[in-house]
Amino acid sequence: MKKLLCPSIMNLDTEDLVDQVKRLDAAETDIFHLDLMDGSFVPNFGMSLNEFKVVRRHTDKPLDVHMMVQNPIRYIRLMADYGLDIIYIHPESDPMPSLTLQRIRDMGKKAGLVINPGTSMESIRALYPLIDYLMIMTVNPGFCGQLYLPWIDQKIEQAVEERKPWGFPIVIDGGVDKTVMTRLASKGVEGFVLGRLILFDQTEKDYTKLMQWMRTL
Ligand code: DX5
Ligand code: ZN
Repeated sequence: MKKLLCPSIMNLDTEDLVDQVKRLDAAETDIFHLDLMDGSFVPNFGMSLNEFKVVRRHTDKPLDVHMMVQNPIRYIRLMADYGLDIIYIHPESDPMPSLTLQRIRDMGKKAGLVINPGTSMESIRALYPLIDYLMIMTVNPGFCGQLYLPWIDQKIEQAVEERKPWGFPIVIDGGVDKTVMTRLASKGVEGFVLGRLILFDQTEKDYTKLMQWMRTL
């Protein structure tokens, strides 16, 4: 099964954003992962909308936005207007995720659901018919460079089983390294957000080589 490789752009310096996006675009990036934060749902601020614009201008590949904000329905139209293709919302910050997911689809965009480490599969089961991607947080969201939380393995196994009739891809976000990618790809996870450990902190700086290596894991 072909992996979905999704570099996390928040890890990059704004100074050379354009150059880096071009290099990632020329490499094997499948989806660019953009983190949006409101300082309330998570205690941090992620990328700016101006940076989203810069990324959009320099790649034709799909962009996802990981919305770590309260009441995301307020901003989904804005995200669509910025040319983002996949819109992930957290059910933990949305009183009516069924409505928000439907609205995302109605705008012709892909609807993504992203769940925190402490959120169970049972609590989101009713939403399966409405989602195009399921992202499972493997760190508590808000900051780059955290370590994978190993106790989430069990939930991922459950997710891989439960989504079978629906078929949406499962993506994991946070602390992905070589061991995590190898283990979870073998369990049936398709998508990986690429952060510091597996991509940006490697001594090898050639993104094409790094991503080709990831496809062999
Ligand atoms: C964390 C973000 C992640 C992060 C991934 O809240 O959602 O996308 O930037 O990068 P690493 O794996 O380095 O933390
Ligand atoms: Zn993210």
